[in-house]
Amino acid sequence: MSEETLSNLLREERRFPPPPELAAHANVTAAAYEEAAADPEAFWAAAAHRLDWARPWTQVRDWSGAPFARWFTGGRLNVADNCVDRHVRAGLGDRVAFHWEGEPGDTRTLTYADLKDQVCRAANALLSLGVQAGDRVALYMPMIPETVVAMLACARIGAPHTVVFGGFSADALRGRILDCDARVVVTADGGYRKGAPSALKPAVDEALEGCPDVRSVLVVRRTGQDVGWTEGRDVWWHDLVDAQDPAHEAEAFDSEHPLYIMYTSGTTARPKGILHTTGGYLTQAAWTHWAVFDVKPDQDVYWTAADIGWVTGHSYIVYGPLANGVTSVLYEGTPDTPHQGRWWEIVEKYNVTTLYCAPTAIRTFMKWGDTIPGQYDLTSLRLLGSVGEPINPEAWMWYRHAIGGDRCPVVDTWWQTETGAQMISPLPGVSTCKPGSALRPLPGIAAEVVDDTGRPVPNGSGGYLVLTQPWPGMLRTIWGDEQRYIDTYWSRFPGWYFAGDGAKKDEDGDIWLLGRVDDVMNVSGHRISTTEVESALVSHPLVAEAAVVGATDATTGQGIVAFVILRAEGEKAAEEAGGDDVARQLRAHVSKEIGPIARPRQILVVAELPKTRSGKIMRRLLRDIAEHRDLGDVTTLTDSTVMDTIRERLPGGS
Ligand code: WTA
Repeated sequence: MSEETLSNLLREERRFPPPPELAAHANVTAAAYEEAAADPEAFWAAAAHRLDWARPWTQVRDWSGAPFARWFTGGRLNVADNCVDRHVRAGLGDRVAFHWEGEPGDTRTLTYADLKDQVCRAANALLSLGVQAGDRVALYMPMIPETVVAMLACARIGAPHTVVFGGFSADALRGRILDCDARVVVTADGGYRKGAPSALKPAVDEALEGCPDVRSVLVVRRTGQDVGWTEGRDVWWHDLVDAQDPAHEAEAFDSEHPLYIMYTSGTTARPKGILHTTGGYLTQAAWTHWAVFDVKPDQDVYWTAADIGWVTGHSYIVYGPLANGVTSVLYEGTPDTPHQGRWWEIVEKYNVTTLYCAPTAIRTFMKWGDTIPGQYDLTSLRLLGSVGEPINPEAWMWYRHAIGGDRCPVVDTWWQTETGAQMISPLPGVSTCKPGSALRPLPGIAAEVVDDTGRPVPNGSGGYLVLTQPWPGMLRTIWGDEQRYIDTYWSRFPGWYFAGDGAKKDEDGDIWLLGRVDDVMNVSGHRISTTEVESALVSHPLVAEAAVVGATDATTGQGIVAFVILRAEGEKAAEEAGGDDVARQLRAHVSKEIGPIARPRQILVVAELPKTRSGKIMRRLLRDIAEHRDLGDVTTLTDSTVMDTIRERLPGGS
């Protein structure tokens, strides 16, 4: 983030106290901060008591093996039972769990009783495929109810799931299946995106060519498109699941039993399998959802407009809302299909009270203009949330005004795949919000902003965000790589968790997130590693070397800009077919290797890359170029004329 943006943020003086009506009936009051500070373990124990435990824990938090944490040790519970059955037992079987809206306009309503029936059938189906507690199951799904059902069925039988975002490529899917050694895959023929069926099954078939140990593929029919079929391996969901017994006795698992693995980009090319476990994760997902969104399960209609393939979908479409017995909206498609008012039409149709989405969506709506949401009745909304990237004050103000009618608090929630649940966020009935600030750690969470040497910075200064105490929903390790877990998160500031984000404390001590400080980009709220895109580019036969940077983008937060040096063959191809054609090929290649979300916005063919004397690529300079900024100090460059050459190749460059 540039100095200019920083000082703009610090000049932000607008303040929004909680609406009195909301504050008067808020689930959480200011006292929670004091209670949690006085005794964090007692605070989290009380939060855990909001769940049903088959056996009580003997210890709330065990940090004796730091940085490997254990929470609620000795306790046993079943996540699916907590998310589904216990609400039915409490007489709430008729409450709607999901209003599902397909992109073409087809709809389904699932009550908690329906969900219980389907989760039990799916659990029995997985058992019939030989899945046992501890086995990993990979999901590659569109946004349909079966995705939730499959996740809960896995949780019910203690088989950790790994959901791979449907926008990822066959290669990415294969890498994840192999890394966690999944033997069963759940998928669909396809899903609807941008007004057309978008196939998923072919990518599974391609991925599995390299996964000999996968024995079963369970396929949901969603779009009806043709699918390839491997006899003996592939089985239709409607054949297998529908034929199962709707009764299944849920077994309670240890609080530290693995619940899921979610892959996320790090600073190397290989994604990290973030492991979440049972009791602590569900406690924090449920408590934060209840507190930060002030949910009233018998009144609210809650909507997280994100994909289940990301952690936001795991914690705030599936586990948090269901643990709280809330009614949610689940939407399959894109925001502009068939028109740019689709989200607002959904809000109006279902009387959505609470909307949670990413700043990139908000900035897109801003670009489309106020008149579009203005055509719908959005008065059911009472609370708005933002997640995934820094929200700039103007987008925050627009969200509050054009969507929230100047009456809804906007909670900017900071957290990560690794944290499992929200960590830094306003509480809507307590906090006076500042546009662009996540304010302070939630009760029970301890965070600090520190300088290079690990000393907390004074108010008014910036540094690195660290978490100084373990928390219930924290990742337990990186799947299969404990050393990498230690090195990545616990080595930079020993004893503290290093989040990889820059942050600033204002004069009140409130926290403003400034984006990643490592080589991870944030494109439309999706984490993508520069190294991952670089290795995809270098795997193309025409490319000799590549350097990738995230450049500020008005809509997506960051856009991927790639600088590539071509091999001799590549130079020749560029001469013959034109540089544009080579760029097109390379963009398609990245899309195939990783997925369309990682496709570079711009590819610049260059003769050389700026490097330090020790041979490190100077990304800061490349970013400056990509953002058309004046260059700073280039004296450590081996050849400072490189920069001029690069700049000449930039469209609009001088
Ligand atoms: C960024 C998404 C600023 C941050 C839940 C973090 C944010 C990364 C915010 C995690 C926010 C998330 N303000 N930045 N409110 N929320 N981030 O793992 O850089 O996909 O490290 O988890 O997103 O992304 P992830």
